[in-house]
Amino acid sequence: MSQCVVRGVRSVELVATNFEEAGRFYESVWGLSAVAARDDARMFRGTGRYHHILGLHRGQRPAVIRIVFDVADRQGIDTLYRAVVVSGCRNVVAPAELAADGGGYGFGCKDPDGRNLAFVTGGTEHADAKDQPDRPRKIAHVNLNAGDFDASLRFFTQTLGFRQIDENAPLWFLRCASSDHSSIVLAKTNQPTLNHVAFEMPDVDSVMRGIGRMKDNGYPVEWGPGRHGPGNNVFAYFCGPDEVPIEYASDVLQIDDSYVPRGSDYWKFPPGRSDHWGITQPRSARYYRVQRLFGFTEDGYRL
Ligand SMILES: [Fe+2]
Repeated sequence: MSQCVVRGVRSVELVATNFEEAGRFYESVWGLSAVAARDDARMFRGTGRYHHILGLHRGQRPAVIRIVFDVADRQGIDTLYRAVVVSGCRNVVAPAELAADGGGYGFGCKDPDGRNLAFVTGGTEHADAKDQPDRPRKIAHVNLNAGDFDASLRFFTQTLGFRQIDENAPLWFLRCASSDHSSIVLAKTNQPTLNHVAFEMPDVDSVMRGIGRMKDNGYPVEWGPGRHGPGNNVFAYFCGPDEVPIEYASDVLQIDDSYVPRGSDYWKFPPGRSDHWGITQPRSARYYRVQRLFGFTEDGYRL
């Protein structure tokens, strides 16, 4: 595909083993707001327009159910569906009207590395979408560990139309039809698991106060605060409920097609450094461990 029809990440859906506690955490500590609650599922919105940016589903084993992408219109969904079918994808369900959790029109598939991806347009959106201090706006990016890196990169770039923006091995940064520097990051780690989910805060102060709020509630910062190389965002990483790796991010670099991608030689920090400011400790051993833990459920591509 020459033109990317994906506009960003709408939501991430997770299995939560401690369902009630996780729900309380995302509302009272992390800064999201509940928009839908059933016995076995809860949806949480950010301050942006998407109906929800996080879905929690009651379950026994921590896992990612799916990553849901935003597409501009129905034609984009149909075009993308055809591209996914042509790519040889065998686990794909044809576009349909969606009933649950905000609705819309879309489809799901399993990518070559076994990740469940969904693509949705339309549905319920929030009219009140103004930034609020200390509250995440949306998902800034999802970082995915790749088992079959070459097949994953090919699928995201050639089938879904993402552009490779920067490379800082083992990380590859992929941009869709958005001014955000990247919405997906692929990590060459030889296993198809979740590396982390980044939630976008409105400003640096919100990230810093978020670190304080997390610390007060027993979730110490595992890496950060700091400022990244590629994407230039301010970051702070934590282990959330079920040890899920989550990030507060702000100041994501906004780019257009004139952006010049750069490679690892340009982006590598000097030894001992892991951010632009030179202030953060290296990531904790705990964080190293959890950013490999979360696999994808078997049938999460079925919407
Ligand atoms: Fe990140």
